[in-house]
Amino acid sequence: MIDVLLGLQWGDEGKGKIVDVLTPEYDIVARYQGGPNAGHTIIIDGKKSVLHLIPSGIFHPPSICVIGNGVVIDPVTLKKEILSLEEAGVEVRSRLLISERAHLILPTHKLLDAASESAKKGDKIGSTLKGIGPTYMDKTGRNGMRVGDLTRKDRLDVYHNLVQKHLRLLRPYDFEFDLSLYEKDFHEALDFLASLKKINSEQFLNDALNSSKKILAEGAQGTMLDIDFGTYPFVTSSNTTTAGACTGLGVAPKHIRKVYGIFKAYCTRVGSGPFPTELYDETGEQIRKSGGEFGATTGRPRRTGWLDLPLLKYAVTLNGVTDLIMTKADVLAFLPQISYAWAYQTPDGILETCPFELTKEITPLLRHTNSWEDISGVSSVEQIPQTLSDYIKMVEKYTGQNITYLSLGPDRSQTLKLR
Ligand code: GDP
Ligand code: IMO
Ligand code: MG
Repeated sequence: MIDVLLGLQWGDEGKGKIVDVLTPEYDIVARYQGGPNAGHTIIIDGKKSVLHLIPSGIFHPPSICVIGNGVVIDPVTLKKEILSLEEAGVEVRSRLLISERAHLILPTHKLLDAASESAKKGDKIGSTLKGIGPTYMDKTGRNGMRVGDLTRKDRLDVYHNLVQKHLRLLRPYDFEFDLSLYEKDFHEALDFLASLKKINSEQFLNDALNSSKKILAEGAQGTMLDIDFGTYPFVTSSNTTTAGACTGLGVAPKHIRKVYGIFKAYCTRVGSGPFPTELYDETGEQIRKSGGEFGATTGRPRRTGWLDLPLLKYAVTLNGVTDLIMTKADVLAFLPQISYAWAYQTPDGILETCPFELTKEITPLLRHTNSWEDISGVSSVEQIPQTLSDYIKMVEKYTGQNITYLSLGPDRSQTLKLR
């Protein structure tokens, strides 16, 4: 069977940490979409690692880590990530399998991403500039270069043809660049990638399922960044929802058992786009500081705001979440009072789901509650403060799903199983 773990907000919910915690229950951990726009943080005994492409199961040998067909790979980032893990003593190459169908991010994809963003004036997406959008455009436009193409004799021609197309697309932009700065590293990284284990991952994963192996599918980004259901156009270019695990790994829906939906006790967003419960005051700043809310990939400060229940419930529904996981409740512990949105006031009345557009006329309706004391030392369900326990019950009642795990801090050890 396969379980899926994915983000229910705008990313950075703590997926990396929880995948690492759950990995001992699985034989295989597989990433199914996104690429190096992801930054998944894992802290083990105080030592921090940030993964962009490698599945977060890598710190638990002998688990196998798969990069699925739905992922877009920057060979330079992948090489760097593998070498740095190996330097830290983690065995990677024997345990990492890469889909031959995964698409490659070329240096010119990154240039196109940057040119397109710089041409936008007030409506920038706030892309991570990792080339994600242009690479998925080439995939759906049927022009892309895939991992499997590395074994082709005419691999360089495939590369150059695509680069020529990109250079034509870059021409109208008022954007200066020097491609030669990136090409040497890129080709060296392609050779490195060619030396790794490349497989037919859909066959591998289905064989694993047929021999009763357990797979954990690791999502990247979050539901509100999904290309179809997120806050379009301020989204990423892949399906971050459960359905993306089927297309991004080649596994049928019937194999999916649990869907772990992970959310913060509040909300954050990095990049542009609507954020109805955003805080612009001292409280928002306090949450950012106390929660260390700075992008794991770009270092940008994350915008902060209250928990948004209508969006959370929308995400639970879209993903078929069976188990909720709440992270970062410890960050709110210092606040005298916390708030959450239970509905939106719209020109047409009260709404408890995600509207077509989260415009300025749609304002969140907030409820307030007392916060809880320090929970960093909580190690059993009985020690959970009553106010936090009430907050958990309130979320469960609103969404109709149980919270199975509570994360009380960034370290692997700071995790409590509630059920
Ligand atoms: P991901 O992209 O979903 O894997 O999340 P990120 O790694 O980008 O961001 C989550 C941040 O919160 C990281 O710095 C984690 O170390 C940290 N974190 C995860 N869970 C908790 C928690 O329960 N409490 C606190 N204080 N930090 C957490
Ligand atoms: P993880 O997996 C948070 C955001 C970017 C931008 C938008 C589009 O760590 O949760 P892109 O580079 O994908 O074209 O950017 O999506 N974004 C993320 N925000 N966490 C992420 O990943 C993100 N990946 C992309 O900030 O607003
Ligand atoms: Mg992240």
